[in-house]
Amino acid sequence: MEKYVIRGGKPLHGEIEISGAKNAAVAIIPAALMVRGVCRLENLPEISDTDTLLHILTYLGADVRMINRSTVELDCTHVQMDSLPEEMWNMTRKIRASYYLIGAMLGRFGRARTTMPGGCNFGVRPIDQHIKGLTALGADIRMAGGFINATASDGRLKGGTVYLDKVSVGATINIMIAAATAEGRTVIENVAREPHIVDLANFLNSMGADVRGAGTDVIKIRGVRELHGGSYTLIPDQIEAGTYMTAVAAVGGAVRLSNVIPKHLECISTKLREMNVEVEEGDDYVLIRRDGPLHHTNVKTKPYPGFPTDMQPQMTAVLCCAPGVSVVTEGVWNNGRFKYVAELKKMGANIEVDDQSAFIQGVEQLTGATVKACDLRAGAAMVIAGLSAQGVTKVEDVVYIERGYQDIVGKFRALGADITCIDEPEETEADLSGRKIG
Ligand code: UD1
Repeated sequence: MEKYVIRGGKPLHGEIEISGAKNAAVAIIPAALMVRGVCRLENLPEISDTDTLLHILTYLGADVRMINRSTVELDCTHVQMDSLPEEMWNMTRKIRASYYLIGAMLGRFGRARTTMPGGCNFGVRPIDQHIKGLTALGADIRMAGGFINATASDGRLKGGTVYLDKVSVGATINIMIAAATAEGRTVIENVAREPHIVDLANFLNSMGADVRGAGTDVIKIRGVRELHGGSYTLIPDQIEAGTYMTAVAAVGGAVRLSNVIPKHLECISTKLREMNVEVEEGDDYVLIRRDGPLHHTNVKTKPYPGFPTDMQPQMTAVLCCAPGVSVVTEGVWNNGRFKYVAELKKMGANIEVDDQSAFIQGVEQLTGATVKACDLRAGAAMVIAGLSAQGVTKVEDVVYIERGYQDIVGKFRALGADITCIDEPEETEADLSGRKIG
């Protein structure tokens, strides 16, 4: 089992490049299923979630060619499958974004059959708004035995008006994809405004769709018969950049992050400045510096342009060592998303969780320990905590981290961190009982 071993306490210095946005990639790759012709995607992150989706498209009959590490050419012209074969079920159950295949297959074939989606395990993740939206476009959706079956009456979706009861990134994306080739006009109200929603709209428009209003809370789509090939460059990853920004805040040092859109980072930069971290913005870079003491603060996560829920664990990890009391409140997921707090406590953090808030009493320093990555972002938080702690930290279950961070070990090493990935065999029952006897 792979683990990260971190010897903490070394300030971070240097420059790294941020990769393409994971959450844009996992929407755009399924959306490419709707395209007849060659679709060239640049600035794709090299992470296991994109590998999995490319693998699924290949299995469905797409021609997938890696041009270099971050560029792929996809040709889905000859894909005919509107149902996920059994060999793919363990993959679609692993990743959340597999539910975008429903919107894409419905849009392309008027039918879709796949498994219920998987993804990060931070509690119940309903899909009622996806279903509401796709139903408003004329799909008949049935769920049974862990599968979703969707059929468009007359074989093609029809435009409609949808009001989302909850601002949902996934539902906004799924409905946008499906509506791109539906007959007539679709209006989606109360939509999410995250940067990757705008990126998906730009991608669809580059392939011939007519999507307007992405980035505001109403999206209007005039359906086209089909999408054609083209080239598209994905935006940089807001959350990856934010993760390195918070790492510098926690550990100290001065780091330049290139290939970023500073506007997407404003909500994070503003919080870090409150915490006595310098953030300088250029056209496509940010420079983060922290050499003084951290200040405590309060953070509440909200849909974009608010503070991202996917930065919540990393921010908590930084605030563990900010003198005074900080309060981190989860405003997107109603289960708090605080499972990882137990791991930070193993490192000496003083945190109490009450419902949707974590109350953090800053301690002088964290101490290295063996901790688990409970999910993707919680895993990043463990790495940050380990980099700032005294002594050795081992982070287990790094498979979660690798779903969404391209070469996190290499990037931190380039900044001078002492972090390595080791492959340690898991302890067997026999080892454990042997130890008990001994
Ligand atoms: C996406 C991101 C995830 C991020 C989240 C919020 C991807 C692959 N994942 O997840 O990293 O944490 O946005 O920024 O892009 N909800 C419903 N009904 C629905 C859908 C959602 O009630 O049908 C609720 C959820 O329980 C949650 C809130 O809406 O409380 C936001 O969820 P949503 O924005 O849909 O998250 P995801 O798209 O799953």
